[in-house]
Amino acid sequence: MLSISLKPLSSSSFLRPLIPIPIPIPIPIASILCKSQLHVERGIEFDVGDTFFRHESAIGRDLGVLSAALHKKANGTLRLIDAMCGCGVRSIRYLAEAEVDFVIANDANQEYRGLISENLSRVVKGFEEEVKRWEVRHLDANRLMMECYLNKDFYDFIDVDSFGSDSMFLRAAIGAVKLGGLLYLTSTDGYTSGGHRPQHSLAAYGAYIRPMPFCNELGLRMLIGGALREASTLGYHVAPLFSYYSYHGPVFRTLLQVKRGKLPDNRHYSFISYCKQCGSSQAFSWGQLGKIRCPCSENVGGSCVVSGPLWTGPLHNAPYLRDMQNLASQWEWISDGVGKDLEKLLEQMVDESDPKLPPGYFKLDEIASRAKVNSPSLANIMNILHKKGYAASRSHIESNAIKTNCTMTECVSIVRELQQSLIMQQSRATL
Ligand SMILES: C[S@@+](CC[C@H](N)C(=O)[O-])C[C@H]1O[C@@H](n2cnc3c(N)ncnc32)[C@H](O)[C@@H]1O
Ligand SMILES: [Zn+2]
Repeated sequence: MLSISLKPLSSSSFLRPLIPIPIPIPIPIASILCKSQLHVERGIEFDVGDTFFRHESAIGRDLGVLSAALHKKANGTLRLIDAMCGCGVRSIRYLAEAEVDFVIANDANQEYRGLISENLSRVVKGFEEEVKRWEVRHLDANRLMMECYLNKDFYDFIDVDSFGSDSMFLRAAIGAVKLGGLLYLTSTDGYTSGGHRPQHSLAAYGAYIRPMPFCNELGLRMLIGGALREASTLGYHVAPLFSYYSYHGPVFRTLLQVKRGKLPDNRHYSFISYCKQCGSSQAFSWGQLGKIRCPCSENVGGSCVVSGPLWTGPLHNAPYLRDMQNLASQWEWISDGVGKDLEKLLEQMVDESDPKLPPGYFKLDEIASRAKVNSPSLANIMNILHKKGYAASRSHIESNAIKTNCTMTECVSIVRELQQSLIMQQSRATL
């Protein structure tokens, strides 16, 4: 059971002018005429009209719904803010599938009002037995969440499905969620997590991000780290329950639980290095700043790049993922053909939750090119790594990559030996 307590109004820093000047949301002329475009997701029908909608985000919505349902089961009730609801598909699914008690479906664009209300009414009446189930609002998300905070009207689950690297919603979202409650956050800025705009990532998430081969994992770590930084200004910390990268977009999503107190010793909020010389990456704590170097490069200057501070701990919580898997299979979302991707994704996430695995991953192509051999089979390398006692898993982010606590240098030797033994087997077979 998750324990929930209401937060006191505390930090005066929170009362700084955090609400930006409301952004005028352009109203597409077409939306006034609002063409009907019916879609079905997990058997639920809704109209997306001219709103921004991606059917590829369905798995992201599945994950949110499973989490909301688990939270409701654990706590008995659940009130939720869908802060950027578009056509309202998430609100519908949270109401119908996770059976949440009450949803605010908010989108700054007032032109979506009719569409959102119609969609919600299709699945759940606004009032049931005189209890209000949902409400449509059209506020700037920051204003909405800030008002909730100021009114001490805290929510159990807040979903902020924002565009780009808009980190300005983080603090208001953390302020408006209950302690023990969940925040489902999004970033779609792959360019910044690719290390191409370090000044931008520094301004948005407080992390100086440099180009590294596992940049999409960095994108998730940057988002979690940014939320952690905002939470700590309010005296809280966040813990990721799952983190999900999808190349459509790209989209970086993370589900965070907001907890009382700051992160002990800044554990898991630190720096990641990548050595261009040998291909290894390492996490460094704050205390090790100034001593960052790769063991291989004693004599090679400038081979190490460093990104941070960002989240360096596990991307997911394995027991939580198991609960999600169980619920998905109870709902027959797993092994139904449709849910194949979800099943595979959750299994890979469980594997990569091993706390022995460091941040980052090695792409097979990089290992092969360093070993000067053809790309080996991922299953073969994983087998050998496990036999040698290393932690190793696939990455849900990059299908052709391995997460492991073995060094790149050792992986290169393994791949060379593997190639040698294959050549010997083939020559024996031709004799
Ligand atoms: C990525 S779309 C939402 C998609 C939707 N959640 C889904 O799953 O289909 C983002 C939405 O946020 C709205 N929006 C943009 N800026 C906003 C703001 N500052 N406050 C509230 N809504 C905003 C846009 O109108 C857009 O509909
Ligand atoms: Zn090195």
